[in-house]
Amino acid sequence: MLSCLPGCAMITGASQGLGRAFAEECAGRGMELVLIALPDTGLPDLARILRRAYEVRIEIIEMDLTDPEGPQKLAALARSRDFLVDTLVNNAGVGFMAPFSQSNTRQNETTIQLNVAALVRLTQEMLPALSERAHAWILNVASVGAFFPMPSMPVYSSTKGFVLSFSMLLREELRGTNVGVSVLCPNGIRTNRGTRQLIERQGWAGRLTCKYPDEVARAGIRGLLKGTGVIIPGLVNQALIRMSPLIPRSLYMRVISRRWGTGERATGALRQSPASGRVSEAAISNA
Ligand SMILES: NC(=O)c1ccc[n+]([C@@H]2O[C@H](COP(=O)([O-])OP(=O)(O)OC[C@H]3O[C@@H](n4cnc5c(N)ncnc54)[C@H](OP(=O)(O)O)[C@@H]3O)[C@@H](O)[C@H]2O)c1
Repeated sequence: MLSCLPGCAMITGASQGLGRAFAEECAGRGMELVLIALPDTGLPDLARILRRAYEVRIEIIEMDLTDPEGPQKLAALARSRDFLVDTLVNNAGVGFMAPFSQSNTRQNETTIQLNVAALVRLTQEMLPALSERAHAWILNVASVGAFFPMPSMPVYSSTKGFVLSFSMLLREELRGTNVGVSVLCPNGIRTNRGTRQLIERQGWAGRLTCKYPDEVARAGIRGLLKGTGVIIPGLVNQALIRMSPLIPRSLYMRVISRRWGTGERATGALRQSPASGRVSEAAISNA
């Protein structure tokens, strides 16, 4: 994998947060970009800034990946516009903080559709094209929540468990081929305003375990190119995950629940989140 450098990255959820940081990291490495996010979320401005700063070719595709036909259309569009994608970064993901009994169907289904179904479908649609490249890389974004199931985010946390498992199995299946697969498992990332507020409320635990988007993106791309299977940014987070099999599940679930609360406290956090109501798991993964 190290004998060849990546030349063109397709990045989902690139308009803000970690996806935007991936776009900058890859553009800084001289890679062409195919950037995807929902319509009217500032992708054209981002592309203009990156083209000017890094002089790389950038295509933007504004689409809703929860549309079941979205990933298929996306792969076809990239092909038709002559982008030889060799790096797929499945970054787009949403999460909601609420006990399952108080969650709403639309939020749960959107979370599953985007975090799981779209990721699987896009990977499947892009794999034939990736296999044609001399070397190719797939980076899926999961979370520490894949190792520590998170009370108050049951659906989100479970989707990230799926992403971890799927990525490891795909990596095994493609071992010995030209396509490498890695999975990124960050703790909290200071992305949108709501997430940053939740991290601040964590005090020292937040400062110790949470990172900035550019740090996580750099760690992700470096790990991907090194061929690391599970990429965990930060030494403290690596230690936490190494210890996870030794900690009784009931114990850490109790600790997380006490810190983040279930019921009133958790839904309170959801109401305080940004306009979209989306929050990351930063708030509770540091429990
Ligand atoms: N932030 C954290 O603390 C944290 C921790 C661990 C893992 N992660 C994971 O890291 C990834 C990025 O998180 P983030 O905090 O950077 O999220 P974010 O700031 O909310 O950004 C999410 C991105 O996904 C896009 N997106 C959302 N729904 C979409 C859809 N239906 N179709 C296409 N694009 C869509 C958003 O576009 P819009 O601009 O249109 O909304 C945005 O570009 C996610 O997979 C998340 O689970 C985050």
